[in-house]
Amino acid sequence: MARKPIIAGNWKMNMTRAEATALIEALKPLVKDATSDVVICVPYTDIDVAVKLCAGSNIKVGAENVAWAEKGAFTGEISADMLAELGTEYVIIGHSERRQYFGETDATVNARLKTALGKGLKPIVCVGETLDQREKNRTKTVIRKQVQLGLEGISAEDMASVIIAYEPVWAIGTGKTATSEQAEETIKFIRGVIAKMFDRKLANKVRIQYGGSMNPKNVKELMAMPDIDGGLIGGASLKAPDFSQVVNFDK
Ligand code: PGA
Repeated sequence: MARKPIIAGNWKMNMTRAEATALIEALKPLVKDATSDVVICVPYTDIDVAVKLCAGSNIKVGAENVAWAEKGAFTGEISADMLAELGTEYVIIGHSERRQYFGETDATVNARLKTALGKGLKPIVCVGETLDQREKNRTKTVIRKQVQLGLEGISAEDMASVIIAYEPVWAIGTGKTATSEQAEETIKFIRGVIAKMFDRKLANKVRIQYGGSMNPKNVKELMAMPDIDGGLIGGASLKAPDFSQVVNFDK
């Protein structure tokens, strides 16, 4: 029941088109022999150039968000059709920065997820606790709720293409990684929640990434854990040598 690892970059609000071009050109030869799925989630304005440059390579392109509505009066939003038309394959949903700064809730995560799945995009759904929640021993309660509400009403068939990213908020961009044991414990817990919602067989197929200061130095140890199936990489995805070392963690 081997799950293929998936390493995804999350560029966040970085990389002009010129910078994106240079990064992707540098990255392509460095990751071409990867045994994992390789994805770069890029700003909307970089998607078309990224899809063109990655064509014929093993790098897939994702967006960092998607609207829940199909179309209409939603100023500033980008629809799933618009993303699919450009050749976008993946999309991050519910990143903690969206939750923290842009009012994202479990309900909007769920709505975006359903729309993304309906349009054939492969979602990367993010969950994670804050430092305060961890210190108050609320990690499992918080994560269970995010997973249950985020995935509410998703069919087992659709669930097969959903990827979960466990990203403790206190580890994002802080240089503080969760220990491999902490990450494994919570990811295993998430797999258990999915098993209860669906069934164990399906839960064992779902890929669950770790995210939060994953880098060339800690990737091996994290990826050695049995339930960690990849990474969602912020800072270390912005430099070709760093991201390629994460991708090639098993080389
Ligand atoms: P980081 O970001 O690797 O810079 O901590 C990860 C993320 O937010 O997805």
